[in-house]
Amino acid sequence: MSSLIHQTRWRHVANPRRTTDTLIGERQRAVLNPQALHMAQTEIRRWPGYAPTPLVGLDGLAKACGVAVIDYKDEAERFSLKSFKALGGAYAVLRLIKRRLGEAVTSDALMRGEYRTALEGLTVCCATDGNHGRSVAWGASQFGVRCVIYLHATVSEGREQAIADFGAEIRRVPGNYDDSVRQAAEDAAEYGWCVVSDTSYPGYMDVPRDVMQGYSVMVDEAVAQMRQPPTHCFVQGGVGGLAAATLAQLWEAYGAERPRLVVVEPERAACLLASAEAGRPVAVEGELDTLMAGLACGEVSLLAWEVLDEGVDDYVAVSDEAAVEVMQLLAAGVAGDSPLVAGESAVAGLAGLLIAQQDPELGARLGLTAESRVLLIGSEGATDDDVYRELVGSSADEVRSGRFRAREVGHVS
Ligand SMILES: Cc1ncc(COP(=O)(O)O)c(C=O)c1O
Repeated sequence: MSSLIHQTRWRHVANPRRTTDTLIGERQRAVLNPQALHMAQTEIRRWPGYAPTPLVGLDGLAKACGVAVIDYKDEAERFSLKSFKALGGAYAVLRLIKRRLGEAVTSDALMRGEYRTALEGLTVCCATDGNHGRSVAWGASQFGVRCVIYLHATVSEGREQAIADFGAEIRRVPGNYDDSVRQAAEDAAEYGWCVVSDTSYPGYMDVPRDVMQGYSVMVDEAVAQMRQPPTHCFVQGGVGGLAAATLAQLWEAYGAERPRLVVVEPERAACLLASAEAGRPVAVEGELDTLMAGLACGEVSLLAWEVLDEGVDDYVAVSDEAAVEVMQLLAAGVAGDSPLVAGESAVAGLAGLLIAQQDPELGARLGLTAESRVLLIGSEGATDDDVYRELVGSSADEVRSGRFRAREVGHVS
């Protein structure tokens, strides 16, 4: 088999706490369940521009890396927000409004402006490194509530502009992501605003639960689109919300036949892998210095952990360099596959698969064979055009129209 990527460094932890129960249990269903999925679908399917995102069969890549199927759920165009996060934050804003004004309030009525007066005093806010804040700001603009978004020092100007375009007030905070979280919480307490966070912590569970429930809509779409059940799913991990929603929905759909779930993180921000090793949620200290901005998380979401703890099969950590190579590989398209625009936080899962296919030890640990059918969640497109061009060497438009110009593989500036 030829080498598809060169940077094949990995760390792997097989989850020692994985349950032998074949069916999803009460512990996981207390977080994510079919009733809550149905509620989320009923609302989200009515939002303007809703359509299931494509599930792209990467036959050329599957052949090149020696598995039977690779299905790539491509979130690059979700509600024109360019990531799966469009489903979470915006849905949590809606749920918050419903908790205030009553369950009878619908997205449609809010978008028609029927509750404008009742919502006058409500402000939602959050800290973000980009995608979640864009979703919250978009939801707030759709439903007619005021929104304040906190950005730490290194969030790119492109991402700031995309959020500001939805009418949100932007507050820049010196320091890192955690500093912006603290500032948002302090201001919310002082002014009586509502924090819409995608991560949970003691005493703060309802909103992040809604966020994850929104993500489940995407996984349910993928289940309906797949021709055959997958044997493996590789999904990237930040605080764990995406992985938890993916796992719970696949477990609901396939029961005992559920795929092996592999969570893949940046090696410099692998808090889920570290927690699996420790047997409980632990924080990763340090700079969390990864270019996979959406995955630069040092602390696990406790609610996500309720699902992941006994459900995940494997945790893998990969390098930033591998992620960049995978972005370029998708942009080029392998052996007849269509070119795909995937942002830097979208590709860790595929990086994990490709590394495992080039390193027999990891491949064996993950139980990959020539018969494996792999589901990948391509969780974002070019959420910052400048960053994308810098990493890939061509713009997203050039890639989409097949004009990607390959350059030195693995280049990271
Ligand atoms: C594109 C993308 N993929 C994956 C993730 C990880 O999601 P989570 O933090 O819920 O694990 C994020 C988080 O921001 C993201 O933006």
